[in-house]
Amino acid sequence: MDSTGFWIFLITTCVIPGMNGQSVQMDDGRWGYIGSKVDLRCRFINSSPPVKISQVTWQKLVNGTKQNVAIANPSLGVSVAPPFRDRVTFKNGAVRKRTPSLEDTTITFSTLRLSDESSYICEYTTFPAGNRENTVNLTVYVRPTTQISLSTPTLVAHSSNLKTPVATCTCANGKPAGTIRWETRVPGEVTNREYRNSDGTFTVQSEYVLVPSKDTHKEMLTCVTSYNDEVFTDSVTLDIQYEPDVVVDGYDGNWYLNRENVQLSCQADANPTVSLYQWRLVNGSIPSNAEIRDNVLTLKGPITYDLQGTYVCDATNSIGTRSGSVEVSIIEKPLPQIATGDVISVVALLLAAGVLMGITITVLVLKIRSKKGSSSNDSPSTKLSQTIRKRPADDIQL
Ligand SMILES: *[C@@H]1O[C@H](CO)[C@@H](O)[C@H](O)[C@H]1NC(C)=O
Ligand SMILES: *[C@@H]1O[C@H](CO)[C@@H](O)[C@H](O)[C@H]1NC(C)=O
Ligand SMILES: *[C@@H]1O[C@H](CO)[C@@H](O)[C@H](O)[C@H]1NC(C)=O
Repeated sequence: MDSTGFWIFLITTCVIPGMNGQSVQMDDGRWGYIGSKVDLRCRFINSSPPVKISQVTWQKLVNGTKQNVAIANPSLGVSVAPPFRDRVTFKNGAVRKRTPSLEDTTITFSTLRLSDESSYICEYTTFPAGNRENTVNLTVYVRPTTQISLSTPTLVAHSSNLKTPVATCTCANGKPAGTIRWETRVPGEVTNREYRNSDGTFTVQSEYVLVPSKDTHKEMLTCVTSYNDEVFTDSVTLDIQYEPDVVVDGYDGNWYLNRENVQLSCQADANPTVSLYQWRLVNGSIPSNAEIRDNVLTLKGPITYDLQGTYVCDATNSIGTRSGSVEVSIIEKPLPQIATGDVISVVALLLAAGVLMGITITVLVLKIRSKKGSSSNDSPSTKLSQTIRKRPADDIQL
């Protein structure tokens, strides 16, 4: 093979692929969001010597049949078919010139529609080589809209363990379909549904199901939707209504005869808040001089044995009535009081005694040491006599 032959071989086999030296180049696939702009690339790779391009035709494959989109003809000019006329143009200005160059017949969709999703054929009619064509698939994406909502504005806690959908998250009209997951501290179940809409988009719906209870009141549910690489989050807070949960405070175990102004307080955890508090004394009656204000019962006194018994507070909200109670015993004499003040003074006294003892011992020890220290300057005989004399103190030090 001489050098010219080698170059022809190289050009025909590597630089110019395809049969007979011409080919139509397109992308492997194209995609765009609805409403966006997208180019469908088409380039004719000519041979040397070049063949003559008689016409370029863009077609859309619809149900297996070809529908014309646009035509570029060197002598007749450019024509875009009516359904595409206001949205499709040839990108390269040279295509539309009086003496056009039709090597690059890329078309641009200005605002994509869902119905544009299809296979598109770019066909070159040449002389004398005949037809060359290639195909590209155009995919249209639709970003879904997401929404989270409470299934009902308020839920009522049931005594039966009835599971109820409490929140719904919707990821609507996406193409491809979005995905939904939940983030919350509240345990529950998730039911997902996916619908295919008539326009080819998908709607995904996810419900969070749980047993509404006092414990789940004010808990937050977050719905996380993912679409392609995008993530959206949205949250709702549960509003669970429940009956009052009641306790009676205020009885200190020291209701002695003739004590005055003792109080009981009815503490209720309820949603909605308690609208009515009622007090009663089991097998007895609340004395007429008792004062009831909101949730507090004040027995002005003086206390008598008649006031002994079980005091019940009935708390009512729109969901129901629940009771709390306390059993009160009346004693003859006040309990020996160990008020906190007394406890503190006792502790202080003990501490003071301890400190005093510590100081005394330290002083003693120091005295002995200083005497020892000064005696070291004395004659050995005196030192010995002093050491002997002070032995009892040394024992204390040990
Ligand atoms: C393609 O086929 C579907 C059903 O097979 C039909 O509903 C639709 O109208 C057809 N489209 C065209 C453009 O003929
Ligand atoms: C284009 O779409 C058609 C029909 O949907 C499919 O058969 C073909 O494999 C696709 N081509 C490419 C390159 O993805
Ligand atoms: C309260 O009265 C009821 C009947 O009215 C009785 O059965 C019950 O034993 C009484 N309780 C007390 C603590 O006296």
